[in-house]
Amino acid sequence: MRIVCIGGGPAGLYFALLMKRLHPRHEITVVERNRPFDTFGWGVVFSDATMQSMQQWDPETAATIEDSFNHWDDIELLFKGRRIRTTGHGFVGIGRKRMLNILQDRCLALGVELVFEREVSSDTEFPDADLIIASDGVNSRIRARYADVFKPDMVVRPNRYIWLGTDKRFDAFTFDFRKTAHGWFQAHIYRFDASTSTFIVETTDEVFKAHGLDKMDQDASIAFCETLFAETLDGHKLLSNARHLRGSAWLNFGRLICDTWSHFNGRSHVVLMGDSAHTAHFAIGSGTKLAIDDAIELARQFDLAGHGRGSIAEVLTRYEEVRRVDVARIQNAARNAMEWFEVVGQRYADTLEPEQFMYSMLTRSQRISHENLRLRDKAWLENFERWFAQRAGIEVSSNGPPPPPMFTPYKVRDLHLHNRIMVSPMAMYSAVDGVPNDFHLVHLGARADGGAALIFGEMTCVAPEARITPGCLGLWNDEQERAWQRIVDYVHRHTPAKIGIQLGHAGRKGSTRVAWEGMDEPLAAGGWPLISASALPYLPHSDVPRAMTRADMDRVIAEFVAATRRAARIGFDILELHAAHGYLLSSFLSPLTNIRDDEYGGSHENRARFPLEVFRAVRAAWPEAKPTSVRLSTHDWFDGGNTPEDAAIFARMFKDAGADLIDCSSGQVVNDQKPVYGRLYQTPFSDKIRNEEHVATIAVGAISEADHANSIIAAGRADLCAIARPHLADPSFVIHEAAKIGFAGQAWPKQYLSARAQYEANLARAAAEAAAR
Ligand SMILES: Cc1cc2nc3c(=O)[nH]c(=O)nc-3n(C[C@H](O)[C@H](O)[C@H](O)COP(=O)(O)OP(=O)(O)OC[C@H]3O[C@@H](n4cnc5c(N)ncnc54)[C@H](O)[C@@H]3O)c2cc1C
Ligand SMILES: Cc1cc2nc3c(=O)[nH]c(=O)nc-3n(C[C@H](O)[C@H](O)[C@H](O)COP(=O)(O)O)c2cc1C
Repeated sequence: MRIVCIGGGPAGLYFALLMKRLHPRHEITVVERNRPFDTFGWGVVFSDATMQSMQQWDPETAATIEDSFNHWDDIELLFKGRRIRTTGHGFVGIGRKRMLNILQDRCLALGVELVFEREVSSDTEFPDADLIIASDGVNSRIRARYADVFKPDMVVRPNRYIWLGTDKRFDAFTFDFRKTAHGWFQAHIYRFDASTSTFIVETTDEVFKAHGLDKMDQDASIAFCETLFAETLDGHKLLSNARHLRGSAWLNFGRLICDTWSHFNGRSHVVLMGDSAHTAHFAIGSGTKLAIDDAIELARQFDLAGHGRGSIAEVLTRYEEVRRVDVARIQNAARNAMEWFEVVGQRYADTLEPEQFMYSMLTRSQRISHENLRLRDKAWLENFERWFAQRAGIEVSSNGPPPPPMFTPYKVRDLHLHNRIMVSPMAMYSAVDGVPNDFHLVHLGARADGGAALIFGEMTCVAPEARITPGCLGLWNDEQERAWQRIVDYVHRHTPAKIGIQLGHAGRKGSTRVAWEGMDEPLAAGGWPLISASALPYLPHSDVPRAMTRADMDRVIAEFVAATRRAARIGFDILELHAAHGYLLSSFLSPLTNIRDDEYGGSHENRARFPLEVFRAVRAAWPEAKPTSVRLSTHDWFDGGNTPEDAAIFARMFKDAGADLIDCSSGQVVNDQKPVYGRLYQTPFSDKIRNEEHVATIAVGAISEADHANSIIAAGRADLCAIARPHLADPSFVIHEAAKIGFAGQAWPKQYLSARAQYEANLARAAAEAAAR
């Protein structure tokens, strides 16, 4: 085959040498506009894992790179006068120039033709090529030429950064945060050869402009950074790479995703590789890794399918299929890390103490979890756990094992919880006339025995017409009150758990079938009239609700208050107001479901008016010493709907009205929502609300193991974790998770103690067997 790589960065060079090595009869040319020793940038960094796959694919190149790189294990934080260090992180740093020279030498040794100082304008300059690799970087001309095929989606991010170097040799990956009169700057610093370190300075656009950096030339910008980081630089200079610098030298990162990566131009197959296909923010330092992995995968696919022209189309399809998965994973992690640095000033640096700030920074991509940190640096993590436990009011001896964060206690008003896990409200559709029965006693009782500190009953409706389905629970009459009393008494007498009630009104999502007969489908018979903020049906064929009148509002408030009084009499420990998921109160909050033109529609203040009236009335009827939470849909997942920014505004309003906790759920407001699911997918909304609005939060959604919960609580992304489906699968979820992570402090019900030793021994044996394999 005749192969041309347009662009001699890591992607083009590495692919060229791999293909030549695998199949020496290929004719391969790399065309690069720069001179061989002429490149932008300072050092690049990648993980030990990338080095391992390079060793496998071309041991010679890997060995030369290994001779030249700087390896380090430590990460150091400089923050508020503190210096905090952890180890075990395993990175390698190498000068970009050095790395490219190694790849160039290896290409030449294998017989790849290298053409320098040739600017390519089009792929059609190589009509005899069978395969053209568009490895021409983030501003790829080839991609632009076929933009209608590749459909690039480039999002320019708000932060500004400048990529500098210094001759100070740092012995750890160092993050330095400095506050000025206008806000925060951060430096990402790592050494990449014997005498030089990369020094990237980053800040928000607002702070950048407030300092007039947009009007400064390069020299003035560099002088500004030298003064700001003088203490860290310790007399050393910051160096610029003049050829690379454009304009003021401050850049914005562009996040790139393409619809498709290959195209046949009539003569040759053209394929995107590396930065021309996708970008990942430097906050997790993975751009070079992605380029290298792309090159390896494409070469691997040729090896599998055969190195002839006939396999090119199939190979390109397979390459894209395989790489897309990994690229999406890294881009997700990079996005989390990038967003962390975009909001770090106000959200974390101004609020968190250095210990927790460090933890939050280390877990910023959400790829490194609590137990990962333990594997990397056990001593540091245990110290952190000890610090965290002390903050939660536990005395931990300096040699005893500290409890993991999810097993620390939490107090709100007079409610004491012995850990941070709650069973999330879950409708069971198993009541008749709203009355809890034996099913509910066993269901909630089993979960109260299962280790969670707080059990929530399902959405409990304040009137017959407030129900979602005929099987929903209620609290509007004495029979229901008596039946609930039995459950609450069981929990209080027989378990260490506390129990909460979630009060709600279904609004336009009412009068539907139980879940297993058709979720959200209207009842065929025996239904009831619906009310909502506006007269909009949930599904096209749902019953149309009546837009609430003032009289309706007064009646509903009275129903909530009556149910609250009953809940207080029964002795529930906490009350949650359900203002999420498109039910009545949520229908007021979302502009998608509230199109009113009176004082209950329009602005945030107006949309929140009725839900706040209900909340205030409930709060007044609820014992002062007992807390309340409010569940919000913190994202409508639909254009024109509420976003986490809107949710933060509502959270602030409920906090000001006396809510103690905001329970951060999302969606279910409109049926054609487009949620983006994934592990901990709603936790960022909790994080935002907790750390920007300074109100305690509950995180919920796809939190499915102790490791997740520990990471969330430790990083301060939430105060409690609500866990729903895992508790349906396993009533003793918390007890089992404690055993899995070897935490001995979780109590078992005394009646079940004889099972404990056997359960823990089986787990230990399975872990030992897995380790031996
Ligand atoms: C501030 C910053 C820090 C970074 N830090 C890291 C890090 O620590 N670790 C990491 O892995 N990655 C890092 N990256 C990303 C990394 O630089 C890229 O992701 C990586 O170089 C991608 O490799 P590539 O071969 O696809 O593209 P590039 O390295 O951009 O190579 C493209 C090549 O094509 C050439 N070219 C472009 N157009 C033409 C043309 N028309 N004709 C001929 N030649 C052309 C260019 O001169 C260039 O040499 C960082 C990036 C930035 C901006
Ligand atoms: C069967 C079922 C019923 C639910 N009922 C309610 C409910 O009554 N009130 C509520 O606020 N959320 C309800 N939810 C949502 C859960 O509380 C939780 O927010 C959601 O399942 C995400 O958490 P998970 O990933 O741990 O399951 C329900 C979820 C399930 C699976």
